[in-house]
Amino acid sequence: MCCNKLSEAAAAKFAELDAFIDGLGLDLKDERRRGRLIQILHHAQDVFGYLPREVQQHVAEKMQIPESSVSGVVSFYNFFSTKPKGKYVINVCLGTACYVKGSEGVLRELERVLGVKADTDPTPDGLFSLMALRCVGCCGLAPVMVVNGKVYGKMTPAKAVAVVEEIKAKEAKA
Ligand code: FES
Repeated sequence: MCCNKLSEAAAAKFAELDAFIDGLGLDLKDERRRGRLIQILHHAQDVFGYLPREVQQHVAEKMQIPESSVSGVVSFYNFFSTKPKGKYVINVCLGTACYVKGSEGVLRELERVLGVKADTDPTPDGLFSLMALRCVGCCGLAPVMVVNGKVYGKMTPAKAVAVVEEIKAKEAKA
């Protein structure tokens, strides 16, 4: 684990990750333990929100595999992120069915309203990350937007902005 002094919150997250890994009962002499790496990284990302270098190092140490093996997997799969994400991750589908029904316009309007480009850093307040993705399997609802796993269908730029405003209003009250 990273030798920096950890905040209590970070220490609790590492403890949770350790408990998960320990619970898998990996045999550190068995090469097949590498087959659990993706599962472990998914859990680590759920716990930390993303996979910074110190988390990757920690996983490598716990599994007793090279750090390069971990970073290779993290960089190969686009569902792993090494950067923090906003509290709300907005995915706009640019798959063919959505694209032909105008999803690019939805994405551009969200970029304008949020002031960030898709697939880059979150908004400065940490509230939103904006991502573009390919077909999410709901083509009948095209154009589709997904916010933290909730699917919004038949989107227009105005409807997308309304969803953002609704979230902002909810957060302002919280
Ligand atoms: S193309 Fe967007 S959900 Fe299939």
